[in-house]
Amino acid sequence: MIGIFDSGVGGMTVARAVEQLCPGYPLVYFGDIARTPYGSKSPETIIRYSRRNTEFLLAQGCELIIIACNSASSTAADALRRHYRAPVLDVIGPATARAVEVSSNGRIGVIGTRATVRSGVYKERILAMAPGDRVFSQACPLLVPLVEEGWLNRRETKMILRKYLHPLRTRQIDTLVLGCTHYPLLSHLIAPRIGRRVTLIDSSIEVARSLREYLTGHPELEKRLYRPGTPGRFFVSDATDAVQNLARTIFGRPINLEKIDV
Ligand code: DGL
Repeated sequence: MIGIFDSGVGGMTVARAVEQLCPGYPLVYFGDIARTPYGSKSPETIIRYSRRNTEFLLAQGCELIIIACNSASSTAADALRRHYRAPVLDVIGPATARAVEVSSNGRIGVIGTRATVRSGVYKERILAMAPGDRVFSQACPLLVPLVEEGWLNRRETKMILRKYLHPLRTRQIDTLVLGCTHYPLLSHLIAPRIGRRVTLIDSSIEVARSLREYLTGHPELEKRLYRPGTPGRFFVSDATDAVQNLARTIFGRPINLEKIDV
């Protein structure tokens, strides 16, 4: 099984992308709804929660872990790799690699939670790959609650987005990394506001592509994980109607959420 964890239900955008790009590899998803959001927590707390989430997934028999949450990827990925033998994929590496590849003017924007922007990881990784590039980051703390409220087309959401994106518009970026699980659900509002010539990088799709590459490079693990027809399981540490609705919006079908204590 492939284990995916997130601070909540937004990481199901990653599970959906994996399901679409890597069919036949059953998933165990864990969304830490009881402790969400991670984006406003300290690094120590995010690392502690991420270790517990990983241990839960390993106990379910997962042999590969994907950190769907950008806040946890940017803060806890190294700590998890040091602690556990199972391979750990995070959303940052694949998204930065794609951003560097597609940007022609070397001016890249990154939007994310406060934790992700504060970590500086996107900038660091982009500059390590393309030292001449310029990276402009913007924390957008109000977007997660708006998505979780289901305000995907509201006037208020459009106004707030315009305000967050304005500083990036003045920087002549040609590529924008959607550095948060929830932002792909707003890409239809982000694209016209940042400008049609700006390429949006969806970290959920990029991590699913990188999983495909990883599996190709590790045929023994790939063989063990390939179990077409085995249904995925979706665990959460709390379940509310809003969470159920968001899961249904992301997958386009009802998702059975199993509530557990971790
Ligand atoms: N999953 C988080 C992320 O991608 C967003 C929600 C949160 O702050 O926990 O950064």
